[in-house]
Amino acid sequence: MSRLFVITGNSRGLGMHLSLQLEARGQRVVGCSTSAAPPWRVDVSQVAQVDLWARHVLDHWGTPDVLINNAGVTSSPNPLWQQEPEDMQRLLMVNVAGVHHCVRAFLPAMLERGSGLVINVSSDWGRSGAPMVAPYCATKWAIEGLTRSLALELPAGMAALSLDPGTIDTDMLRFTFGPGAGDFPPPEAWSGPAADLILSLGAQHNGRALTLPELAAKG
Ligand SMILES: NC(=O)c1ccc[n+]([C@@H]2O[C@H](COP(=O)([O-])OP(=O)(O)OC[C@H]3O[C@@H](n4cnc5c(N)ncnc54)[C@H](OP(=O)(O)O)[C@@H]3O)[C@@H](O)[C@H]2O)c1
Repeated sequence: MSRLFVITGNSRGLGMHLSLQLEARGQRVVGCSTSAAPPWRVDVSQVAQVDLWARHVLDHWGTPDVLINNAGVTSSPNPLWQQEPEDMQRLLMVNVAGVHHCVRAFLPAMLERGSGLVINVSSDWGRSGAPMVAPYCATKWAIEGLTRSLALELPAGMAALSLDPGTIDTDMLRFTFGPGAGDFPPPEAWSGPAADLILSLGAQHNGRALTLPELAAKG
C-alpha cells in the first residue's frame, strides 16, 4: 500500500537517493531543502518556514505515514577548541532544533490519525566519539536522547526511532573525510537496500536505535 513519506534534506545525498528508491517502490514522497524551489525550499532551522511547508503538505498531500528527519550539516574537521561558535550554533539549530521543528509541525496530525512513524537519522557518531567532529557528535547524541524520550510519549501503534544509515560517500562525508570518502559506497548503492529496510519498519521498532548495515546483515 502506498504511504506518504516526508523526508527533510532530499535535494542530494542520502535523502535524494532514498526518495527516488521509495518512489520506485510505489510510495509517495515529499521533501524539502534550502536549495529547492518553493514551497519545498525550507531551512529546517527556521520554525516559521517549517510551519508553512508543513501546512502546505498537510493541506495538499495529507498526513504523513512516515516522517524522516534526514537534513543535516557538519562543521569543518577541527579539534573542539578550534571549532567556531557560529558553526556549533548552526549544527545545533539544523541537526537538533530542525528535528524538533518538524516533529511539532507534523506529529499532531499523525497523533490525531493514531498512526505513523518518525525516523530520526542519527549516526555512528551519535553513539560514539570521534576526533575532529565533536559538534556533529554532540548533535547526533542529542538526537538519540530526543528520540528515546519521544518514543516514551507516543501512544501504542506509533513509533519514533533513530537510524544510523552507515557510512556513505556523500557531500557530507567528502567534507569530513576528503578523498578518503571514496572508500565507502555511493548513495546509489546504499539507497535500494535502505528503502527496503525502511519499508519494513513499524510500531514494533518504537524507541529503538537502529543501524542500517546491521539490519541488512541480519537479512
Ligand atoms: N553520509 C554518511 O556517511 C552519514 C553517516 C551518518 C549519518 N549521516 C546523516 O545522514 C543525513 C544525510 O546526510 P548526507 O550524507 O546525505 O549529507 P549531504 O549529502 O550533505 O545532504 C544533506 C541534505 O540536507 C539538506 N540540508 C542541509 N541543511 C539543511 C537545512 N538547514 N534545511 C533543510 N535541508 C537542509 C541538504 O540540502 P541543501 O543543501 O540543498 O539544503 C541535503 O539535501 C544527515 O543527517 C547526516 O548527518 C550521514
